[in-house]
Amino acid sequence: MNILAIETSCDETSAAVVRDDLSILSNVVLSQDEIHAPFGGVVPELASRQHLRAIVPVVRESLAAASGVPLEKMDYFAVTQGPGLIGSLLVGLCFAKGLAHYHRKPVLGIDHVQAHIESARLEKPGLEFPALALVVSGGHTSLFVLRKKLAYRLLGKTRDDAAGECLDKIAKFLELGYPGGPVIQKHGAAGDPARFAFGLPRMSDRSFDFSFSGLKTAALRVIRAENISADGPGLADFLASFENAVVRALMANFRKAAEKVRPKSAILCGGVARNKRLRAEFEKTAEAKGLDFAVPSPKLCTDNAAMVGALAWTVVKSRKRIPSTLDLDAYPRSPR
Ligand code: KG4
Ligand code: ZN
Repeated sequence: MNILAIETSCDETSAAVVRDDLSILSNVVLSQDEIHAPFGGVVPELASRQHLRAIVPVVRESLAAASGVPLEKMDYFAVTQGPGLIGSLLVGLCFAKGLAHYHRKPVLGIDHVQAHIESARLEKPGLEFPALALVVSGGHTSLFVLRKKLAYRLLGKTRDDAAGECLDKIAKFLELGYPGGPVIQKHGAAGDPARFAFGLPRMSDRSFDFSFSGLKTAALRVIRAENISADGPGLADFLASFENAVVRALMANFRKAAEKVRPKSAILCGGVARNKRLRAEFEKTAEAKGLDFAVPSPKLCTDNAAMVGALAWTVVKSRKRIPSTLDLDAYPRSPR
């Protein structure tokens, strides 16, 4: 079985070929970072135009990299259906539907956030359930529990900014570049994470929701009070302290949820899961709790089509029949 997977939900155009044994034959990702960098964030109109330009070459390159498996040899097409930027989603969705129609094969609409979670299983397929998954990216910050395969139950999500968005906004304010997470990690690497104290957000109810807008406001206050700038003193300490605060906020909620859910395994995924400090804290926590855990290798954390193929593979393997319908609409926000 061969699956051609396509991902265009935000600012990466990606195509992957995934085979029967869940091996990734190719996973081509064309980032638009350079296009959006001057604006300090993704410009939706530019993103969809760039997807239009890139989709054909990216799919071609993905087929070539998969030792030339031709389109005729695909058994399924899979594509991100949502959530994401509507214009960006539509490019991948229409393209995949066109291919499926022409080749008379089913097309599967895949949820982007669930695909991030499934990316962890590409490298570690045998994780036990219940699994507690922390998804942290530029658009999402959520906790899910899976009591069995494909049963994603949302435990909590951000009420305002996503963690990656918060990092991106502070980097933009300091004119450090885009995306913010990697530049904050780089410039803060030698800094003292205890130099500036940030309080953690507290939810007044007993939910597992996140909130990052307060942290962002506190960071802006410190920047002004301490005269932090891109080339001034104190930058490394400030960035290390701020990054540390974001990681602490994520991990505090994860620990609280783990106490309640008592999972057997833990998953960390999404673009922010590339962050070294977060990876180290997550692994330390999972080990201390005796949990088996999976954190995808960095290239599988940021948006990519292999994760879409991985989820499609799991769906195909667990259903008797995949209906051959072209009746898929893009959804910009998660249905719940
Ligand atoms: O998953 P992703 O590629 O796209 C979304 O679905 O949003 O995540 C992109 C986010 C950006 O906010 C970026 O700043 C963040 O991931 N990111 C990082 C790192 N690399 C990427 N954040 C912290 N540390 C990193 N090393
Ligand atoms: Zn993503």
